[in-house]
Amino acid sequence: MRYEKKRSASRRTVIKGLGAGLGLAAAASFPAPFVRAQSAPVKVGILLPYSGTYAKLGDAITNAMMLNIAENGDTLGGRPVEYIKLDSEAAPPKATENTNKLILSDKVDFLVGPVHSGVAMGMAKIAREEGVITIVPNAGADQITGPLCAPNVFRTSFTNWQPSFPMGKVLLDKGLKNVALCYWNYGAGKQSAQGFIDGFVPNGGTIVKEIGVPFPEVEFQAALTEIAAANPDAVYVFFAGGGAVKFVKDYAAAGLKDSIPLYGSGFLTEGVTQAQGAAAEGIQTTLHYADTLDNPENKAFRAAYKEKFGAEADVYAVQGYDTGTLMRIGMDAVGGDMEAKNDLIAAMDQADFASPRGPFKLSAAHNPVQNFYLREVKNGVNEVISVAYEGLADPAKGCTMG
Ligand code: BEZ
Repeated sequence: MRYEKKRSASRRTVIKGLGAGLGLAAAASFPAPFVRAQSAPVKVGILLPYSGTYAKLGDAITNAMMLNIAENGDTLGGRPVEYIKLDSEAAPPKATENTNKLILSDKVDFLVGPVHSGVAMGMAKIAREEGVITIVPNAGADQITGPLCAPNVFRTSFTNWQPSFPMGKVLLDKGLKNVALCYWNYGAGKQSAQGFIDGFVPNGGTIVKEIGVPFPEVEFQAALTEIAAANPDAVYVFFAGGGAVKFVKDYAAAGLKDSIPLYGSGFLTEGVTQAQGAAAEGIQTTLHYADTLDNPENKAFRAAYKEKFGAEADVYAVQGYDTGTLMRIGMDAVGGDMEAKNDLIAAMDQADFASPRGPFKLSAAHNPVQNFYLREVKNGVNEVISVAYEGLADPAKGCTMG
């Protein structure tokens, strides 16, 4: 499947020109199906978790994406929007059936999802084959913008490798050389660990222990016992959502917080600090977002999100919001004409805008090239401490477009 940028005028340009030349009366006599297609709702299929350990992540993404579109008249490219939501349950075995339903039965124009890397792997194959424009608003599976990259597949979040890579240098700069890794033992956790190793080991760090916990298990006592026995300089972890709440609380309750400092990719403290309470205070993480980023887009976004949903925005909400922006950039470029797919994709490919996270643009593999911030939880807020890595692109190993 290949989407080459058309050399000739797009269908929309030709029709627009005709309408202008012939006058409104003639334009009004266009074949009914075309007129209907341009005023019919754009179908946005959403495959996100609304139950289980990642439910809050799915809610935040959905809310913020819809907020973005509502702020722009509830339209995309001048057309109304119809949302078709499916609960992915963060369950990889259900990914194929759910994706087929949205693409083949509901015939969505855009597919937005998922949160879980395993679900993304099931979804990507079908999205590639069917060519439906797909935006991944969270799942970090490196393969999606690596060997499985495709012209019609975009990501507004991160690869699992990205947030972890900068932390290797951060810990070495603090003199922490012997680190234990602990993570949910599925694609996201393993790739997150690899990102950390890539930034840590070649620069002189040593991994003294690696502990995988089955997803979505939240029984951490055995892992905590192993960490205490290994007695590393620090621990680096990947947990998110409900699992992150439990791990951070259990870590403090086990008495490890003051003896072995805990670090992680920012999902560890994202959207969950209220539930974690005092146990989260002082934890440092790296991520492409921080609550206190001092830019006008972040301030406006956080205020609008809080007003509408009565809750603080987090990274998942930012990714959802930017999914709305990316769709809008594509749809505005073609005036809502989904048949001008090449031009729509070309416009999305060139997206370059100011996001609440800072500057946003896409790599050739359609993954964000973005800043990664070192943050620390202070009074329940993920405060930015410094830019740990400016404009980090994923290596996108194995991606050949076309
Ligand atoms: C993932 O499965 O890719 C993922 C889930 C939650 C947070 C970050 C990554």
